[in-house]
Amino acid sequence: MTEGIGRRNRRCGWTKGALTVISVASLIGSGAMSVPRARVFALPVVIVSLVAGLVGCGPSPAEGPPDATLYDHDAAAEPERLSQSGLYANTAAGVLADGVELYAPRFELWSDGADKRRWIAVPDGERIDNADADGWVFPEGTRLWKEFSSGGVKLETRLLYKQGPDPGDWYMMSYVWNDDESDADAAPDGAEAVRGTEHAVPSQEDCVDCHEPTHDGALGFSPIQLDRDPAEADGELTLDDLRARGVLRYGTGTDGYPNYPLPGSASEQDVLGYLHGNCAGCHNPGSDVLGGVDTRPLFHIPTDEEARASVDSLPAYESTLGVRTTETRGATYHIDPGNPGDSAVYERMSTRDSDLAMPPLATDVVDEDATAAVRAWIESLEAPGDGDADGAGADGNQ
Ligand code: HEC
Ligand code: HEC
Repeated sequence: MTEGIGRRNRRCGWTKGALTVISVASLIGSGAMSVPRARVFALPVVIVSLVAGLVGCGPSPAEGPPDATLYDHDAAAEPERLSQSGLYANTAAGVLADGVELYAPRFELWSDGADKRRWIAVPDGERIDNADADGWVFPEGTRLWKEFSSGGVKLETRLLYKQGPDPGDWYMMSYVWNDDESDADAAPDGAEAVRGTEHAVPSQEDCVDCHEPTHDGALGFSPIQLDRDPAEADGELTLDDLRARGVLRYGTGTDGYPNYPLPGSASEQDVLGYLHGNCAGCHNPGSDVLGGVDTRPLFHIPTDEEARASVDSLPAYESTLGVRTTETRGATYHIDPGNPGDSAVYERMSTRDSDLAMPPLATDVVDEDATAAVRAWIESLEAPGDGDADGAGADGNQ
């Protein structure tokens, strides 16, 4: 959806020189440069990158060297242990390697209550291609990690490693931590009851079901997910950081957080964001998982301004409210306003029955808080008038 970038580009007729001086000065003054690992981002380079990032508002590539740094990328590498993956300089001591950056998505995937941390490393001198604002393409050699722990005990760390130029070139693997937490071993078949907990690790095949390459592998490292308030980010990379450092090939066409404001009240945003974070990996227009059938419920939140204009213009609303379900026993609609019990979305979230459960894998425990929030949201939606339930708009896509 390049039009998101293109349209907002019209607002970017800045004078390069003046903007550069003002922006760098004001960013330094405002403390917007308080980056997590300053040693990686020496000040002169930051300034060059800031300049590059800020003037890179239009479709022309940002200038100057990006200052994301890295490790050596070895396309043949399929690390057997986490210590070989480039995450740590010292795995047992938990010391991160240079260039590895902490981040967190705004809307997390539910993982049966496990605690999670995430990191990214983009190869030195490379940029993320964000020409399609909703379909970032990562440079070869990009790695992302997600660590799962419970009560301070490390369980597994997952790796996504782009080994070639194509979306199908991602190497996906989970590494299960050993008992002294000195290292973690590859678990291609997944694992059950890890380290005496209930935690189950998905197999390599399971990874693909969610991280299928419709978009380029990474699910939570995206503009909507990274558009977080820098004041609350607590050292985690945000969209503003990426732009300021010139790590994105193109600007985002916006001036800073919130780059992509979401419609609705805080609780509506929580529910719609939850569906985006937990369901949209499969329920999006490009997904192969759903066989391209666009009558499925769609839960992605696009960057497109028109789609974000109001709650009822979002796909989660348009593709579900009063739209008949074809695959869910016991429910008539994807969402029946005012009636959670007749809504496939609620029914599927509130069960772990393998025929119905959504998401269909990688969770054994219902997310009670989220399910209650979705229930309350559906109850709050205005029910159609009597006799109107099967009326216009109730049978198909709207
Ligand atoms: C049920 C779907 C699902 C399965 C199965 C799954 N993931 Fe993910 N994964 C996600 C979602 C959604 C996110 C983004 C949200 C988040 O990080 O909480 C994510 C995030 C990640 C991240 C952080 C980078 C990113 O994409 O945002 C890594 C690394 C990762 N997963 C690796 C794996 C690996 C390796 C496997 C298989 C062992 C796997 N995942 C299985 C859905 C899944
Ligand atoms: C790993 C991919 C994946 C994820 C993640 C996922 N779904 Fe699904 N969903 C599917 C597939 C495949 C189907 C069709 C098969 C079926 O009906 O079970 C489906 C079907 C559905 C249906 C039934 C559609 C109909 O016509 O009856 C609903 C409702 C639904 N999903 C909701 C959700 C919700 C809500 C979430 C997040 C909490 C979610 N899904 C997450 C893959 C996924």
